[in-house]
Amino acid sequence: MIKVGIDAGGTLIKIAVMEKETTDYRKFPVSELKQAASWINGMKNAQICITGGKAALLASYLDTAPAEIVEFEASSSGVRYLLARNAMSQTEFVFTNVGTGTSIHHLENGGHRRVGGTGVGGGTIMGLSRLLTGITDYETIVSMAAKGMRDRIDLKVSHIYEGAEPPIPGDLTASNFGNLMSLHAEEQLSREDLLASVIGLVGETVATTSVLAAGQCGMSTIVFIGSSFIGNDLLKQVVERYTELRGAQARFLENGEYCGAIGALLSLA
Ligand SMILES: Nc1ncnc2c1ncn2[C@@H]1O[C@H](COP(=O)(O)OP(=O)(O)OP(=O)(O)O)[C@@H](O)[C@H]1O
Ligand SMILES: [Mg+2]
Repeated sequence: MIKVGIDAGGTLIKIAVMEKETTDYRKFPVSELKQAASWINGMKNAQICITGGKAALLASYLDTAPAEIVEFEASSSGVRYLLARNAMSQTEFVFTNVGTGTSIHHLENGGHRRVGGTGVGGGTIMGLSRLLTGITDYETIVSMAAKGMRDRIDLKVSHIYEGAEPPIPGDLTASNFGNLMSLHAEEQLSREDLLASVIGLVGETVATTSVLAAGQCGMSTIVFIGSSFIGNDLLKQVVERYTELRGAQARFLENGEYCGAIGALLSLA
């Protein structure tokens, strides 16, 4: 018997397929929802569980009605599973899912609770990148951003406290995109620079919001998941550094973008 867990999100459909002892992962963009459905329909004798905002839509194209699970329950269970597999023993922590949007959850021994979120997330990376550079391909955005410099776009605390001792770390961003007003008319910004600052804005917002939420729960470990980290070392670096600057620790999980799909799969008997 094949077990299939599906997390159909706002941007990407993530699928985990378990056959005997091995688990394979696969993703489709939501724009290819029908192709994803045919691929799933091609698996005979499969037991399927589905979650995510596009679950009902995707289910309507499947040959047999799948089981369903609440998205946050699925992602929590997937996070626990991946943590255990990676020999990380945290039992109580906060996790932040940076998907199209961002949601933050507190996991305790007994259960989980959504503790916050922000509309700044992976969708913001895509939208602002398109607006500022015209680029719409995720991999291109991420690889170009890695080559950019943020200094002429973002205003740091040390820029404001020029020559004086700032009361908070000078390396913190005082204002994302706030340095643009002092840019000379003839100066050109590269697309790489703009993209690096977009990733900076999203990473710093996600980290700051998560640290504040974690503080309210008395937690200092934050596990970050979601497809926004795929191949995106720059976002990981920004999130890690900002989380640490604010006194907490960031953890990233390999295959973390599949937590929802894994949780859906695990809920099958
Ligand atoms: N191949 C890709 N195409 C588009 N976006 C990608 C791709 N790979 C990574 N991303 C990034 O991942 C984000 C989507 O993350 P994820 O798949 O976790 O969200 P989702 O589950 O679809 O959305 P939500 O959970 O908010 O409904 C995109 O906004 C983008 O920043
Ligand atoms: Mg999602």
